Amino acid sequence: MQLQQTVLAVFSPTGTTEKIGRAVAQATGLPVQVIDLCRESPHLTIPADALFLAAMPVYGGRLPEAAARRLAGLHGAGGPALALAVYGNRAYEDALFELRDLLRQGGFVTTAAGAFVAEHSIIRTIAAGRPDAQDLAIAAGFGRDAAQKLAGVSSLSDLSEIQVPGSEAYHDRKPGRGAPPLTSDACTACGRCAAVCPMGAIPRKNPETTTDACIGCMRCVSVCPEHARSLPPAALERIGAFLNQTAATPRQPELFL
Ligand SMILES: Cc1cc2nc3c(=O)[nH]c(=O)nc-3n(C[C@H](O)[C@H](O)[C@H](O)COP(=O)(O)O)c2cc1C
Ligand code: SF4
Ligand code: SF4
Repeated sequence: MQLQQTVLAVFSPTGTTEKIGRAVAQATGLPVQVIDLCRESPHLTIPADALFLAAMPVYGGRLPEAAARRLAGLHGAGGPALALAVYGNRAYEDALFELRDLLRQGGFVTTAAGAFVAEHSIIRTIAAGRPDAQDLAIAAGFGRDAAQKLAGVSSLSDLSEIQVPGSEAYHDRKPGRGAPPLTSDACTACGRCAAVCPMGAIPRKNPETTTDACIGCMRCVSVCPEHARSLPPAALERIGAFLNQTAATPRQPELFL
């Protein structure tokens, strides 16, 4: 197939999913267009001669509901897609399966997929500093191999969907929803968190508050120059104890090609 471009659609509140997505996209060797689903929810058709790359973080073993909704605004025309799930070294459970389903419903054929490990955005000592150079090299190798595989396919009707781990059981579960952070007295009302919250959950005129739209994505916590936002200590302690039991051993990327 003669592909003309790679279109990367990414939801990445704290930036790790975007790092992996960009490493994969650049390695395809095609011009790259990025759609930032934290900032926009476009309704677009991706042409069949584009390679569509969907990169999503894992929340509670699922896709973040808001991210899945925004991704559903991007429609395929029978062209190829790559699915990437990025998780905080605990487990990705049904997230990749759900992403592949969503892409199929949207009119894409997922020809390759990958689950990548990154620093846990709630407890940042888990997989701290990842993706590291090795993760990014694996991501680039995946992008190259996935593009090469497609170069050997002669027409859209010859595209075949890849199998990924996970199960349909996710249909019966509610997607996980993160807890909203609190704001301390250190807040200077600079407004930076309100400007970048993907859900518009921080009122610009009252940035020490958070509305019910919050999905607990940790972006405001990570951008606040005063370190004024954080989860309640009891929640941090509970999640930290759980992750120290379930996510302490470093995991490696898994590729499905
Ligand atoms: C609300 C929430 C739920 C999460 N659930 C999981 C999970 O089920 N398994 C896991 O390994 N990591 C989980 N993580 C960690 C993220 O998947 C991981 O840190 C990812 O790299 C975040 O991507 P980002 O940097 O693009 O925001 C969760 C993070 C948040 C904020
Ligand atoms: S970024 Fe921090 S200091 Fe600025 S408004 Fe938000 S909480 Fe306050
Ligand atoms: S208020 Fe909630 S949704 Fe908005 S950036 Fe903070 S954690 Fe994310």
